[in-house]
Amino acid sequence: MWKGRFEADTAQVVLKFTQSLDLDWQLYEHDIQGSIAHARTLAAAGLLTAEEMERIEDGLNRICQEIRGGELKPSERLEDVHMNVESRLIELLGPVGAKLHTGRSRNDQIAVTMRLYLRDRLLGLQRGLLLLLETLLGRAERHQGLIISGYTHLQQAQPISLGHYWMAWFEAFSRDSGRLDAALASLDECPLGAGALAGSTLPLDRETTSKLLGFARPTRNSLDTVAQRDYMADYHHFASLFAVHAGRLAEDLILYATQEFGWLRLPDSFCTGSSIMPQKKNPDVLELVRGKTGQVLGHMLDLLVMMKGLPMTYDRDLQEDKRGLFASVETVEGVLEVLSPLLANTEADQAAARSGLEKGLGLALATDVAEYLVVKGVPFRDAHWKVGRLVKHCLENNKPLTELTLAEWQEHIPETQADILDILSLDESVARRKTYGGTAFEQVAFQIEEGKERLLAKTKTLEAELKRVKGFGLQKDPTQG
Ligand code: ARG
Repeated sequence: MWKGRFEADTAQVVLKFTQSLDLDWQLYEHDIQGSIAHARTLAAAGLLTAEEMERIEDGLNRICQEIRGGELKPSERLEDVHMNVESRLIELLGPVGAKLHTGRSRNDQIAVTMRLYLRDRLLGLQRGLLLLLETLLGRAERHQGLIISGYTHLQQAQPISLGHYWMAWFEAFSRDSGRLDAALASLDECPLGAGALAGSTLPLDRETTSKLLGFARPTRNSLDTVAQRDYMADYHHFASLFAVHAGRLAEDLILYATQEFGWLRLPDSFCTGSSIMPQKKNPDVLELVRGKTGQVLGHMLDLLVMMKGLPMTYDRDLQEDKRGLFASVETVEGVLEVLSPLLANTEADQAAARSGLEKGLGLALATDVAEYLVVKGVPFRDAHWKVGRLVKHCLENNKPLTELTLAEWQEHIPETQADILDILSLDESVARRKTYGGTAFEQVAFQIEEGKERLLAKTKTLEAELKRVKGFGLQKDPTQG
């Protein structure tokens, strides 16, 4: 299709090396979606008659069916999905088909195709992410009254509500959902009309093309349009943080389900056994969630390193933007697919969680005592030191903090009064952390309520966007009007 100026045929190894069909053949629907909008823009500019436009549109829809049905196979000789589709169109329509590429380059064509494709896939990811958020809310609601140890440095720190813990992940994944929205906003400009790099001498109304494809506006600068892949980097940023969050969550669950922690029960259907050790129930799913994080981060780096130092504007290097992107989207989809049902069936054992805190001699209540003393007028640093000495005493005598008598309390810390005994339970400790965002049961309930409202709003927005975007897609069956 571009051989006019060449004397020799392209070497076989070059065809193999430069083709992108293994990556972009799956983009055929979005490529055709872009081409139909382009044909309509050409017709609006008087560059195609209404009849020619209709024939092109019918031809493209037919090609779409042919590819979907497996009848039309890609030819390596035609490099990529764009030229395969176009060449088939010319085969079907002759000279009319040869008019489609008017005012267009594969440089703006691949840019619009990728944006359309990514828009669909990212909305799908958003749906999975909102399901994860819903699942976390469900767990939080179920476990809000259940007390576990909170950890810092993986050492028992302070008792917390398990509902509070699940809501922590709700926050993290909510921010991921926001970053996904940002990636969607970042791709929401229409590249068509940028041409190879400098625009077109033909009177193409880019506003029309953009509207036809459901983008917010045309891109503002044609050079930047074919040169940049920021919208992909924005996706990778989302994916990377999502993967980091999912990996950390997985690590926690793996740990809490060990015999040593022992209070979390993973669903059998999401665990695997050992081929030799009959007793084993292994958290392989979570290990893979954690293990796949590296690939997702790697794909972001891959894109950034590939982009770095590229001369303005389009360079063929950019063709490699797809490999990591597709792999990353697939990984994120896969993680979302297992994580929600796994969490939905994860249970906790209150007795085991409490006994873990008891093994720690109830020392997770030490901060509560220090703050009690502050209220009695002891400066915090003094209180810290006094309670620290008492902790030492408990450890040396293997005596739980919660089992000291009032006489023992007053012997060690004269500022304590009878009401010290009232605060020395795990339930009290959680209940009294009433600061906004804290672990007190009512605070957790408030977080859950607020979370539900936020999720509902997000769900409504997503449903509306899915519906809107679907309106710009191809009709699956052109005979259905
Ligand atoms: N397959 C190419 C890509 O994915 C399409 C654009 C090719 N443009 C070109 N001038 N060779 O980037």
